[in-house]
Amino acid sequence: MAQKQVLMCPPDYFGVYYDINAHMRRTLEKGRKVIPAIARKQWSALRDIYLKSEYEVLYIEPVLGMPDLVFTANAGLISEETVVIGQYAHNERRQETPVIQKWFGDNEYKVVTIPYFFEGHGDALFWKKILIGGYGLRSEDVGVMLAAEFVEKELVLLKMIDEDFYHLDTCFCPLGDKALFYPHAFDAASIRDLEKAGELIEVSAKDAYLFACNGVYLETGFGPKFIAHELSGKLRNTLEKLGCEIIDNRTTEFLLSGGSNRCMSLFL
Ligand code: ARG
Repeated sequence: MAQKQVLMCPPDYFGVYYDINAHMRRTLEKGRKVIPAIARKQWSALRDIYLKSEYEVLYIEPVLGMPDLVFTANAGLISEETVVIGQYAHNERRQETPVIQKWFGDNEYKVVTIPYFFEGHGDALFWKKILIGGYGLRSEDVGVMLAAEFVEKELVLLKMIDEDFYHLDTCFCPLGDKALFYPHAFDAASIRDLEKAGELIEVSAKDAYLFACNGVYLETGFGPKFIAHELSGKLRNTLEKLGCEIIDNRTTEFLLSGGSNRCMSLFL
């Protein structure tokens, strides 16, 4: 089997310079600045975890003035050699799109662009045989529906209602045949739909705000691993009981921008 790949973007120009989510707004209000040396260390530690787990890490060249390019998960929805790229909901990130399109074009992907708000794997996650999609805060429903059609997957579409959890990958996280989720992020009908789709593990508000759902579940030859910023003792236990080896990787600087380990990783 070909080696598993993950796309990352070095945090050379990462920072919080505008406010397009509640986390960034609070960061700017407090006057807290990203510390570049710490951001670099945290990002490099994540990259090293992938390398040690026998992933090949590919890179998008960072671009001055595009601080959020580091969050490669938003670049598109990947299915084999196809990438579905939508529009960013906020003007501040739209300049990333040509950079992303060029990278995928240069790397021989079939690039499908859709004329709706759709923020890639930030709002679309494969779970078992289906695609779980989130809409309402960033991606729009038609965007997610069209993306699901291009990758030929049955879609369970969830409405996001809490601005602190503005992307699906901040409040839902597939773990093999189970998944973590933070119910407050979704409307009631969506919770029911999600419960029908499979076995869920509810995370507390405390874990949700520690971005537990933005952890990365990795199936490796040595069993599953879960890369997390920080977990409560309770959730750590639950995951260990499922056989996961927990790998701690603090992402304090990226949380200032509303992102953690998963947001910085696009699995190819
Ligand atoms: N500052 C970025 C934004 O608001 C963070 C993106 C986080 N990415 C994610 N996949 N949740 O767009």
